[in-house]
Amino acid sequence: MMKLLVLNGPNLNMLGIREPDVYGRRTWRDLVNLILNHARETGVFAAVFQTNSEGALVTAVQRAYGRYDGLVINPAAYTHTSVALLDAVKAVGIPTVEVHISDVSKREDFRQVSYVRQAAVLTIAGHGFEGYLEAMDYLREHYGPEARG
Ligand code: DQA
Repeated sequence: MMKLLVLNGPNLNMLGIREPDVYGRRTWRDLVNLILNHARETGVFAAVFQTNSEGALVTAVQRAYGRYDGLVINPAAYTHTSVALLDAVKAVGIPTVEVHISDVSKREDFRQVSYVRQAAVLTIAGHGFEGYLEAMDYLREHYGPEARG
């Protein structure tokens, strides 16, 4: 069974409370349930992790080496600042899809830079929570057992 690690950066645990006009009213718990249900329905294993700390995100990517077949990552604000996270994703060489709930391309200038994008096979932004499910499907279709034949 394909193993996916879904990583989430700072403040995503505040979903449902934080800026509902930007991120919607569904909660972090709702997001985790959506991801785990989708994993079950599509026959993949998924683990979901959230941290507010950059170092913990880097460590989680490193620990995925040899353990996971794909990464879905929403680095939140670290998207726009973290060379360390980019280097970690490059280091492990695991196919990675970058996800953002909001459409970052239509937001502030400081959100127009994404470091991790350079190492991502795909970026999905502005599709809400469903973007995570699209990322999981993409990884399964392109890197799962069926893709390998
Ligand atoms: C975000 C977009 C980032 O710019 C922001 O810092 C976040 C969430 C998104 O999912 O839309 O915290 O990654």
